[in-house]
Amino acid sequence: MKDLPASGPRHVAIIMDGNGRWAQALGRPRLYGHQAGAKRVREIVAACPELGVKYLTIFAFSTENWKRTQAEVSGLMTLFRRYITKEARELRDNGIRVRFIGDRIKLDDKLVQLMDELELMTADNDLVHLTVALNYGGRDEVARATKRLARDVKAGKLDPEAVNAETLARYLDTYVLPDPDLVIRTSGEARISNFLLWQSAYAEYEFIDTLWPDFTAEIFAGIIGNYGKRERRFGAVAG
Ligand code: IPE
Ligand code: IPE
Ligand code: MG
Repeated sequence: MKDLPASGPRHVAIIMDGNGRWAQALGRPRLYGHQAGAKRVREIVAACPELGVKYLTIFAFSTENWKRTQAEVSGLMTLFRRYITKEARELRDNGIRVRFIGDRIKLDDKLVQLMDELELMTADNDLVHLTVALNYGGRDEVARATKRLARDVKAGKLDPEAVNAETLARYLDTYVLPDPDLVIRTSGEARISNFLLWQSAYAEYEFIDTLWPDFTAEIFAGIIGNYGKRERRFGAVAG
């Protein structure tokens, strides 16, 4: 692909939004939109190596998404199980390392088992690091991290006076990942809905109107191309 930026984003995070509206526009049930959305993931992951995207993190289910109808929630959980079962081999064979972030405690045992297996199965891969946020919320993640940190303090393993931002980051679900350089949200909503709150402190944001099931590798490449024109200052003065 042309127009590849000299220094593109290494870590891209995507809020995959708009499945429901996409289905609604076709007069179909919301779950039909989620199925179409799941199919998009493969194409976007496959586009990453050529675009220089080493880390891709996708928001699949938020800690707030439990508020949806029981039918939609259980339909999504079934979809996640099927998706992992169906895609596992191909992900492994294509060099994709898969990780999950979020709280697993509320997820059913079978799904958690599939997630664990996929992580293990792809643990030696290094072409693209795909992280799936499932029952993930930024505030929940910071709260869980704080709980673990507090336990270490209580156990005498950590000096409270030594705690700083770096210390806390080591307790987050994302401790092995670099911070996202670019966060994309589809479907026209300009909010972050509790996604990677801590990690995105200095991320660039791209909000686009396209609904997630219509998001193509071409649109993705266009956004990555535009990223090269941005100047990130991290609080300093333009150089
Ligand atoms: C995003 O699509 C997928 C999930 C949140 C699971 P939505 O289901 O939020 O679709 P809209 O926003 O209602 O169109
Ligand atoms: C964010 O989308 C969560 C995911 C994409 C998984 P939502 O559709 O749940 O967010 P809100 O409700 O519009 O903020
Ligand atoms: Mg939505």
